[in-house]
Amino acid sequence: MSTRRTAIVRSIAALTLTVAAALVPVAASQPALALENGLARTPPMGFNNWNAVRCNVNEAFMKKIADFIHTRVIEGRTLQQRGYTYVNIDDCWALPNRDANGNLAVNRSKFPSGIDGLANYVHAQGLKLGVYADSGSRTCDVNGFPGSFGHERADALQWARWKVDFMKYDNCNQPPDDTFEKTVARYTAMRDALLAAEQQTGQKILYSICQKGDRGISPFPWSPQVGNMWRTTSDIRPNWDRMKFIIGRNIPLAQWAKPGAWNDPDMLEIGNGTLTQTEERTQFSMWAIMAAPLLIGTDLTLASAADLSILSNSDVIAIDQDPLGRQGVQLSNNSGRRVLARPLANGDRAVALYNESDATATISTTASAIGMPSAPSYTLRDLWSKSSRTTTGTISASVPAHATVLYRVSRTGTPTNRYEAENATIFQGAAESQHAGYSGTGYVNYTNATGGYVQWTVTAASAGSTTLRIRYANGTTVNRPMNISVNGGPPVVVNFPGTGAWPTWATATTTATLNAGSNTVRATAITADGGPNVDYLEVG
Ligand code: GLA
Repeated sequence: MSTRRTAIVRSIAALTLTVAAALVPVAASQPALALENGLARTPPMGFNNWNAVRCNVNEAFMKKIADFIHTRVIEGRTLQQRGYTYVNIDDCWALPNRDANGNLAVNRSKFPSGIDGLANYVHAQGLKLGVYADSGSRTCDVNGFPGSFGHERADALQWARWKVDFMKYDNCNQPPDDTFEKTVARYTAMRDALLAAEQQTGQKILYSICQKGDRGISPFPWSPQVGNMWRTTSDIRPNWDRMKFIIGRNIPLAQWAKPGAWNDPDMLEIGNGTLTQTEERTQFSMWAIMAAPLLIGTDLTLASAADLSILSNSDVIAIDQDPLGRQGVQLSNNSGRRVLARPLANGDRAVALYNESDATATISTTASAIGMPSAPSYTLRDLWSKSSRTTTGTISASVPAHATVLYRVSRTGTPTNRYEAENATIFQGAAESQHAGYSGTGYVNYTNATGGYVQWTVTAASAGSTTLRIRYANGTTVNRPMNISVNGGPPVVVNFPGTGAWPTWATATTTATLNAGSNTVRATAITADGGPNVDYLEVG
């Protein structure tokens, strides 16, 4: 076996092991096992020209789009202010052949300022620039521009020197003897080239894998460890059948998405082709519930007010960009009447009632089925109509054909499973109400010493494992860990890191086994700083 082949086999074996075991020690000679570049903590947002103008891209067009994103105010804010950041050039920016030094050469008649000049232009607006390349011998367009196979290091260094921020790496014209291992190796080679270029230049480049599962070669399990995002299907088209197909393919992939690594069901078609407004809203809603990258694919300067309004829906964008970074999972699918839900960082949940069928249907679920903790009632905020209503648990709507109802679900009223700290037993600490934002009549300020505690008596309907959520504030930058002990049993250490300010509240979570009936839960300070300010405990 050649050295190269051995290295590939080792790297594949290591990738597989990592998925199974999470933490595997890696020999220094092997490539890193994840793309740890700190980028894409939420799904990337921006623009890509392909769906709008394909190969007819040039500098003037890209500048026009950047100007629009930066300047045009839509319903009170610019697209940039709503989070759209990347301005990405797709295929067809290069000359048909490499230059005399073997480098990719910019087609200067299309891009007179070069890629570096365009990068400077968009950077001056606070935006970022993307380019496109290919992992084979030539790119995907019929004209086929030079691919980067065998040129990975030099090409990545050139992009970094041009100050490119995003690389979409396609999969056309692969070596004829392509295999799963060789595909992974080609994409891993570019990942490592981008990381090496970053070390040399300081330029971070988001890595967008466009392998698409071509020729039956799966994007899994390797893509989440190699790129910041990866296409999950072949190309999208601006028609309903294709959209529906892509959504169906992307839904079951939720397990792979996490901050820094996202499933990519391809770019937005809002404003293009034969999609109705209903279908466009479904694309935006479903991309949001699936934590997908939001790359606009229409010529914004020609888009209708209605299309710009869809792209500017900050409530839907907030679901997509939620910092918890969990892709929604499908809870039910009754002949194309689907329910998907995802948890959100502030304790709310998003739920999508998606009707892919051709007739209006009632689609239903419940607050408990989507994972909401128990509460007397819930608020359902419709993120398109912007109206809110209250429910004691049922979540149901009449959903037109091809439409999606997207709700943000939050608890209202005082939950029955909440126990205020100020009403509990307090040792070395005191109830106070100086800092705003607490529930009940205040919170407990622990004495700055070890050993202080708050002890709650809580009731469980049945014995078993449950979630304990402690709402707290820590206005310092130093963690204030505490021991959490149930019924006097062995303590579990829970961290209470700084929340930025004393009136800024956060939730720390642990699991515990409770008895049926009455139980005690004690939170004891274990450092000389004492505990954080504690607002309440919620059980279940
Ligand atoms: C492939 C990709 C598209 C686009 C074109 C460019 O088809 O999947 O998204 O980048 O190539 O040639």
